[in-house]
Order: sequence, then structure tokens, then C-alpha cells
Amino acid sequence: MSKLLISPSILSADFAKLGEEVAAITAAGADLIHIDVMDGHFVPNITIGPQVVKALRPHSDRPFDVHLMIAPADPYLQAFAEAGADIISIHPEAGPHLHRSLQTIRSLGKKAGVVLNPSTHESALAHVMDMVDLILVMSINPGFGGQTFLPSQLGKIEALRKMIDQTGREILLEVDGGVNPQTARDCFNAGADTLVAGTAVFKGGPPHYQANIAALKAAAG
Ligand code: DX5
Ligand code: ZN
Repeated sequence: MSKLLISPSILSADFAKLGEEVAAITAAGADLIHIDVMDGHFVPNITIGPQVVKALRPHSDRPFDVHLMIAPADPYLQAFAEAGADIISIHPEAGPHLHRSLQTIRSLGKKAGVVLNPSTHESALAHVMDMVDLILVMSINPGFGGQTFLPSQLGKIEALRKMIDQTGREILLEVDGGVNPQTARDCFNAGADTLVAGTAVFKGGPPHYQANIAALKAAAG
């Protein structure tokens, strides 16, 4: 298995042909498919809902890595699970009961993730480490693609790497925002094993997807 998993964010895809785009990144070597769900309330942008996730499901055999930037998230967990999500990740700030929300995701038979905003401390995870399958570190403020990577998050990635290793469990440590071949190397060196990338994967269009994904994986070189 590759040392770095790449989860292209379809936020940077051509929304007029999302199915083809998802098939193209799958063929180009995507390990997961990152789907950004935004509500115009938790974050200042609106994207896609469960119906679109369901429509995309037949276009890829890779796990759907669904990043919920919605509040509340609880009323929609079942709909995303039924639509074909494999991993459902939520922000602690999206509701008052993170533990209960993670229980719900697990009870739906899905992997559970927690997402930390740039200002959120890793200690938010201290008492739910046994309930997470993925931890996502935001290296930008969520809401839009194309932003600049925040190096201030590298220390958090290092701290989380230690926390994960102490559990002895398999928990993916993913980074999202401003990931390119240069910042990918910093993330890998800090202990990340999974990288989300929108701009860096989709730039140039379909003929470039394979090389773009390979360039990110080479950061683990
Ligand atoms: C932003 C999303 C990201 C975004 C990343 O809120 O969570 O997944 O698509 O885009 P890039 O890779 O362009 O920074
Ligand atoms: Zn995301």
C-alpha cells in the first residue's frame, strides 16, 4: 500500500459533469473520494446534499470520504449513510454531543471522523479517541477551495500522530486545505497518512489527473 493516500476533493471538479469527474479521478489513482458538504450556515458556502452523493455512488468503487460542514449534522447522518458514504466526518462545533454523533455514525455501519478547524485544539478528541476511524486536520478555514495552507497546523498534526500511535488502533490522519506537492511533504513529515486536495488534483483537467495525484504521492518519497 502507498504510504500516502490521496482523497481528491470534488469541490474543484466540473460540477456540470460530476459523475465523469469522479470516474476520472478514480481511474487516475484516487484512494478515496472527498465530498465537501456545506450548508451556508456552518460555513459561508453551499454545495451538495445526499441526493448528489447517491447519484455519484455508481461512478467509483473507492470509499466516499464525506466531510460534513453543516450544523446541525445529526438529522442528516442517516441520509448520507444511505446515500453511500463510507466515512462520515463531523466538526465538534456542529453540535452539542460529539460522542453521541459519533455513536450514531458507527451505528449506521459507517466509519466516523472528527474534523478540527485551525483554531480547534487536538484535546477536543481526547475522550473520543476510541470512537474515531479518521481525524481530519483543516489546514485552511473551511468553506472554499483554493486557499493557502496554514503551516501553524503542522504542530497539531504531530501531536495527533502521537495520540493515534498511543491508541494502537488504525485511525487515518488526514489533512485538508492548500495541499500541493510542497505542503504535502510537510504534512507527511508531520505524520499525516491521507491528504485531501482539490485544486492540486483537478488543475489542468482530466489529462493531468494521474500526474497530479502521483505528484502528491511522491511527497512520501
Ligand atoms: C474546504 C474543503 C476542502 C477544499 C480543499 O472547506 O474542506 O476539501 O475542497 O481545496 P484545496 O485543495 O483547493 O485547498
Ligand atoms: Zn473537505
